[in-house]
Amino acid sequence: MTAVNTFVTMWRFLLTLGPSAMVILMLNSGIQNDRQDIVDEEHRVRSIHIENLRQSYDFIVVGGGSAGCVLAARLSENPEWSVLLLEAGGDEPVLIDLPQMYPVFQRSPWDWKYSTEPSDRYCLAMEDQRCFWPRGKVLGGCSSINAMMYVRGNRRDYDHWAELGNPGWEYNNVLHYFRKTEDNRVPGYEHNPYHGHGGPISVERYRFPSPLLNIFMQSARELGLQHPDGDFNGRTQTGFAPPHGTLRDGLRCSANKGYMRRSWQRPNLDIVLKAFVERLIIDPQTRRTIGVKFEYNLLKYQVRADREVILSAGSLASPQLLMVSGVGPREQLEPLGIPVIQHLPGVGGNLQDHISTSGAIYTFDSHQPGQHLSFIVPEMLNAESVRAFLQGRDSFFYAMPVSEVMGFASTRYQNPQLDWPDVQLFMGSYGYGADGGMIGRRGAAITLDNFAETFEPLIYQDSFVIAPLLMRPRSRGYVQLQSPDPRIHPRIHANYYDDPHDMAIMVEGLKLAHRLTQTPVMQALNATLNIYEWRNCPEVEYLSDAFWECIARYYSQTIYHPVGTCKMAPDHDPSGVVDPRLRVRGLRNLRVIDASIMPTIPTGNTNAPTLMLAERGADIIKEDWLHYPNGGWS
Ligand SMILES: Cc1cc2nc3c(=O)[nH]c(=O)nc-3n(C[C@H](O)[C@H](O)[C@H](O)COP(=O)(O)OP(=O)(O)OC[C@H]3O[C@@H](n4cnc5c(N)ncnc54)[C@H](O)[C@@H]3O)c2cc1C
Ligand SMILES: *[C@@H]1O[C@H](CO)[C@@H](O)[C@H](O)[C@H]1NC(C)=O
Repeated sequence: MTAVNTFVTMWRFLLTLGPSAMVILMLNSGIQNDRQDIVDEEHRVRSIHIENLRQSYDFIVVGGGSAGCVLAARLSENPEWSVLLLEAGGDEPVLIDLPQMYPVFQRSPWDWKYSTEPSDRYCLAMEDQRCFWPRGKVLGGCSSINAMMYVRGNRRDYDHWAELGNPGWEYNNVLHYFRKTEDNRVPGYEHNPYHGHGGPISVERYRFPSPLLNIFMQSARELGLQHPDGDFNGRTQTGFAPPHGTLRDGLRCSANKGYMRRSWQRPNLDIVLKAFVERLIIDPQTRRTIGVKFEYNLLKYQVRADREVILSAGSLASPQLLMVSGVGPREQLEPLGIPVIQHLPGVGGNLQDHISTSGAIYTFDSHQPGQHLSFIVPEMLNAESVRAFLQGRDSFFYAMPVSEVMGFASTRYQNPQLDWPDVQLFMGSYGYGADGGMIGRRGAAITLDNFAETFEPLIYQDSFVIAPLLMRPRSRGYVQLQSPDPRIHPRIHANYYDDPHDMAIMVEGLKLAHRLTQTPVMQALNATLNIYEWRNCPEVEYLSDAFWECIARYYSQTIYHPVGTCKMAPDHDPSGVVDPRLRVRGLRNLRVIDASIMPTIPTGNTNAPTLMLAERGADIIKEDWLHYPNGGWS
């Protein structure tokens, strides 16, 4: 049976691949001709000619992702400072602007393509029992390939950072930086004190929702779970509402679009794209970070930093670059023959991510023969939708159906009075069956066998997914260097569900998702869980806790938020890597500023928090060099 199914699935892929690829090619060339707003010739970032590279800069920013773009733009506001931004990827391709295209960039040349170490506790339905972790290799970093959900996290997250011994990071202080990044364009938010206006990153509602959005909201209302004012980033967080997105005129607003396109032409800012940084140059005697080595077009370059090097290569590459440069746990570096400049046991540790469960898909009857309420990709991806998009009309390519309605809730393990939810839920009109397994399956690395068995029966049927995310896991993973060669990915020990409490919360999250499908509005549609007879765990009782746990272990899905691997902490915490002013412990003239410094993962998606911490990081640097001789680096 499975062999036959697998064969059918394979053939269907081949048959749909051709037409879909044609539509995408049409779209790409059409945009070049008809959508000058997307081509944006005038503002597109360009690399300097490498012959014009200076020998030294005041600041070198390594990595042009969410944080790196903020830092390059803010530091170069001071015309007295010269700034170099080195980014391994190139500029954003035009299709990246289209929200609907977001999953297409996973496993593409714009993705670093990481995989976690195999596990027998999670990602069991995935190839090799590894979870696939995409990361943006492009100017804008992950902000250029992410799902654009604009979520800041909970005020208690930041108060907790401060309580851990990191003064200045409490909510009342960082709210200013959240607002500074933001240009909220949602009607009704003009005078909202929690939101910013005129900042670099525009925030809007997603366009082109499916008809299911209203049904999702109705089901939340029927359980009394709707958000009181529809804003997770304002007064309170708990509840269900359609999320805001980092969008400009309905299209992606990456950190590149928001920060770099308006600042790259400054004479004191140089950018080299496709520049792969190989290591930091640190003087072992003075402990000063002197500069960096990078490769561009097969040639090697060295460039000096007169003031500071800022590492913003993200939660996987920042600890890796520290380690290959001799900064990290001695036990890891010595066996690889890397001379230890600074023994820092915390580098690569404290890894946290948001894990979710994607396998529970609900089919339903739209009661309108021949008409679907959810998005079925082959029906939406056609010449007409391309034409509509090229003419600037609202169309499928503006849709981002992963979380049309988002929810924050407290399970029985969390006191709801705290308004500090322990699960987030995505309600999306886009199951694995919707695209015939071509894109979603590929991104999640689900094996053909598992796909054929579990999802093939619902291919191209009306369906939706309610995916719970575990917000503040107790489990911690780590990133382990496996080679002194910076091009070889480190080993990622995700360690999901190491602490059994995490699975207990996930099971409650799945049960809440299921309850949402048992509401009158959902039952009128005959919403039905796809998994009833299940070969993966034949012994478990249907809808028991063990049943949900089994789904969670097979269809584990990262929500792409690895953080914490260069933890910010006070000096007395041995697992710290940077201090609260983001200076690397024991070294001079080196900071890490990106998602890796978060001591604990925030209650929500991580892009807005990363932009916030980079804005604050830029201000810290400006203050230090204004107030202290030599920037305070004794
Ligand atoms: C598929 C996906 C979906 C997501 N969805 C959302 C969402 O909807 N909402 C949300 O808030 N968050 C989302 N996130 C997470 C969010 O985008 C990230 O947390 C955030 O962008 C991290 O920013 P960063 O600056 O730490 O790292 P990155 O943005 O990853 O930036 C690191 C940069 O460094 C570059 N780099 C790395 N190594 C080198 C080197 N050796 N030399 C030169 N350059 C180098 C990389 O190419 C990259 O540009 C998503 C992420 C992914 C991958
Ligand atoms: C509801 O959906 C299930 C699964 O698709 C199907 O077997 C059943 O007949 C449907 N019930 C009604 C009343 O349509």
